[in-house]
Amino acid sequence: MSVNKEIKRITTHSIREMKVRGEKIAVLTGYDYSMARILDQAGIDIILVGDSAANVMAGYETTVPITLDEMLYHASAVVRAAKRSLVVVDLPFGTYQGDSSDALKAAVRVMKESGAHALKVEGGIEISDTVKRIVDAGIPVMGHLGLTPQSIYKFGTYTVRAKEEAEAEKLKSDARLLEDAGCFGVVLEKIPAKLAAEVTRDLKIPTIGIGAGAACDGQVLVVHDMLGINQDFKPKFLRQYLNLFDEISGAVTRYIADVKNAEFPNEKEQY
Ligand code: KIV
Repeated sequence: MSVNKEIKRITTHSIREMKVRGEKIAVLTGYDYSMARILDQAGIDIILVGDSAANVMAGYETTVPITLDEMLYHASAVVRAAKRSLVVVDLPFGTYQGDSSDALKAAVRVMKESGAHALKVEGGIEISDTVKRIVDAGIPVMGHLGLTPQSIYKFGTYTVRAKEEAEAEKLKSDARLLEDAGCFGVVLEKIPAKLAAEVTRDLKIPTIGIGAGAACDGQVLVVHDMLGINQDFKPKFLRQYLNLFDEISGAVTRYIADVKNAEFPNEKEQY
């Protein structure tokens, strides 16, 4: 299917309509102005300013350490670049798991200071009242179930979630709760494809899968992973479209050689 680049601005409303029309939703993460411009102009529907910025931009082992101020920095840069895509920003760990009025304050800061269009939070029943409070304040929220990296120290591993009946049942009920709380969509991360298909059928709001199979209403990948910038992360669900690590490394090697051999700059490359 070709991308309709004429559409003015993708909104949470148009995202929901895409599910009704059966049009798949293409999502990638983005953390900086230059990459976000490319994604936006290529026609991506949603740019997710994921807290995976902690891993791919800052080199942390988990997403836990990234702060609200750091997320604001990434989100503002992406918003400045995105003319068409919907920009969704992760609320970082620790900003919404406690008091819901603190969560609302963090949510309002992201919306006011970055200009983002929507937020994403991880979890189900534990945070559904907070989700409702944020949505009631007029802020669109996307949920995130399955493997929720902010809880990695509770899970202890990044393996597939909800393979057992009890966890699968909780996930289905959490998905309904998030829909009832007013979420406009929900990310399903690393769960069996059959379960993701069931949730997708059950919900009116779109599901966005990552390692959750083809039945989801949309797909999301971390942009550094799909472009092959990050070489040490190759899970089964990842399709790598480029090998930018090798491409960049090759270009840098040639540049170093040119400088060392006094072959750069040449006559035309100077004033
Ligand atoms: O932070 C992130 O990049 C995410 C996606 C993996 C869904 O939450």
